[in-house]
Amino acid sequence: MKLKPLALFVNHDGKSSRASITCQYKCGNACSHEVPNTSGGEYFGDIVRAAMSRRGLLKSGAVAVLAVGAGGALVACSDNSGSGSAGGSTTAAAGGGAAPGGTAFTAVAPNTEDAVVVPEGYEQAVVIRWGDPVLPGAPAFDFANQTPQAQEMQFGFNNDFAGLLPVEGQPNTYLLVVNHEYTTEPFMFTGYDPANPTLQQFQTAIAAHGLSVVQVKGEAGTGRLTPEFGPNNRRITANSEFLVTGPAAGSDLLKTPADPTGTRVTGTLNNCSGGVTPWGTVLSGEENFNQYFANADQVTDPTVAARLKRYGIEGGASERKWERFDPRFDLVQEPNEANRFGYVVEVNPWDPASTPIKHTAMGRFKHEAATIYVTDDGTVVAYSGDDERFDYMYKFVSARKMMPGNGQSSMRHNLTILDAGTLYVAKLTGDEPDQIDGSGKLPSSGRFAGKGEWIPLLRTGEDGKAESLVDGMSTEEVAVFTRIAGDKVGATKMDRPEDFEPNPKTGKVYVALTNNTKRGEEGKPAADEPNPRNNNKNGQVLEIEDEHAGTGFTWNLLLVCGDPAAADTYFGGFDKTQVSPISCPDNLAFDPHGNLWISTDGNALKSNDGLFSVVLDGDRRGETKQFLTVPKGGETCGPIIGESRVVVCVQHPGELDGASADKPASHWPDGGDSQPRPSVVAAWKSGGGRVGV
Ligand code: FEO
Ligand code: CA
Ligand code: CA
Repeated sequence: MKLKPLALFVNHDGKSSRASITCQYKCGNACSHEVPNTSGGEYFGDIVRAAMSRRGLLKSGAVAVLAVGAGGALVACSDNSGSGSAGGSTTAAAGGGAAPGGTAFTAVAPNTEDAVVVPEGYEQAVVIRWGDPVLPGAPAFDFANQTPQAQEMQFGFNNDFAGLLPVEGQPNTYLLVVNHEYTTEPFMFTGYDPANPTLQQFQTAIAAHGLSVVQVKGEAGTGRLTPEFGPNNRRITANSEFLVTGPAAGSDLLKTPADPTGTRVTGTLNNCSGGVTPWGTVLSGEENFNQYFANADQVTDPTVAARLKRYGIEGGASERKWERFDPRFDLVQEPNEANRFGYVVEVNPWDPASTPIKHTAMGRFKHEAATIYVTDDGTVVAYSGDDERFDYMYKFVSARKMMPGNGQSSMRHNLTILDAGTLYVAKLTGDEPDQIDGSGKLPSSGRFAGKGEWIPLLRTGEDGKAESLVDGMSTEEVAVFTRIAGDKVGATKMDRPEDFEPNPKTGKVYVALTNNTKRGEEGKPAADEPNPRNNNKNGQVLEIEDEHAGTGFTWNLLLVCGDPAAADTYFGGFDKTQVSPISCPDNLAFDPHGNLWISTDGNALKSNDGLFSVVLDGDRRGETKQFLTVPKGGETCGPIIGESRVVVCVQHPGELDGASADKPASHWPDGGDSQPRPSVVAAWKSGGGRVGV
């Protein structure tokens, strides 16, 4: 069978398409700041030893190219500037035959539409958008007349993670739990003056952060979801009360004049991705919390200053100037407040009166998310990446066993699982380190692969007593300054670990490493086998066979992302003329068939962000197909791949440079001359039926 190349066009100038306004408000311009990890490190990829690796590669390079060429698909000498992929080759897909279950749909071509584009034969519709009512009595959204009181009852801004939890006894009814990562004030308010935000704008932005819990009802015969006022509907904001648990609870490092106990924190910030636990709660990662805190440059204590710097907290005024309205955001007045953010948050969506928890036993860093694997004996393993260039991958292995059942006593017990156990950081080694030159050329074995070990940092007992496993650091210091603990044990510096997800079918664990253009820069760590490209614009996806509760693992790269026509990309060994271009992998999910799905953030190939399926097993391993694209300027987040419904969050639609609420670049989802609104979207097969079958 002859097949057409899938990559219909790729237009790239080598830069991420993420607008600078998005960088400014989403992550506090992390990419234009100095890399926070300046630790010496001791692993093979550091710059000093890279010179040796380069020499080694010169000797072995020819071998590597030949090995790659044997795959028959890689264009070894791509000039990396073309506009087409694979030059019209019609090579049959490796494996041939029908697409594996879950991936039988016509791939969506890269595009720059102001629309959600789904495959032929599929439909999509908005589930809920920024400003829609969550609580009874919420006023209808009025863009020109927003108030904090209204926003506290409405769906928040910039949805990222989404979880869909079935409501027992009510068919086709779910709790939709969504993170609201950040606010982009110039897109929320016309006439916004970044130098002089108003009190009203500050309070509205505080209320637009956090999470929403919304009951949704499915429509029979389609995948459409409609919000309802259910008994569990709830808004959690940057002003809601949180309980701190684990070894840092009550620590002096967490005490403030507003909370002399160090156990009650006001609010959650920058909740990026997350996970649904098997006991029915939702975990949410506090990610780029650093950007909300002002005046680090006036901190004189060298220890405190070094700790702030390691977490990317620097400079004077913050972007949003919240410190003008609430002194807790001013580090001079409240030096410990920043220590109260950067945790995994757990929300029990079944009890709207419950106080959400910040789990300090899982460490403090820029948690992208936290996702759970349960071993046969009920031990809970939670994986979490630290989304910063050259930062680390972590896991937490519980001391307690999960209690089955969904009664109140099970819930009470299971809500303590993430408070007792061991926190580990990952160290990876490659099988063929001397063959890594930073170009992305495969080593002679034909794949990037190696071994790893989990290095223990902190052990917390069921009695609450904790033990530091890092020389020179107290238990509280490891829990609160976890990055520094990772530095001390020589953890492997990765290319921005985003979502980290175990496959429920196979137990293999996958990590999206989104990009790192600083890799290989002078004075920065060079490429190594798990991060094999210098100036890495497009990212890679790591596959791990983990001992879960143990400390050993093996790994390989499933995908080295980018233009399939470029020599530096790899799609699990699959024919690269038959895959969709994919760039900047971010969130991961699995469909009921066991295929991996990836959403992207900041496509360096100049197409809109999208959602892709990837076959993991059999002779079509690595086959990557785009299922959906989001409107221009937007990011695809929080995918949920169900039997007959796909849900994605469209974050920051229309956030393009030069655009604002005064000059909108997108009118999605409402059309006409409306303002763009971050929204949750459901997609399904026309007339119903299983997705991708
Ligand atoms: Fe909020 Fe790591 O993306
Ligand atoms: Ca993310
Ligand atoms: Ca992201």
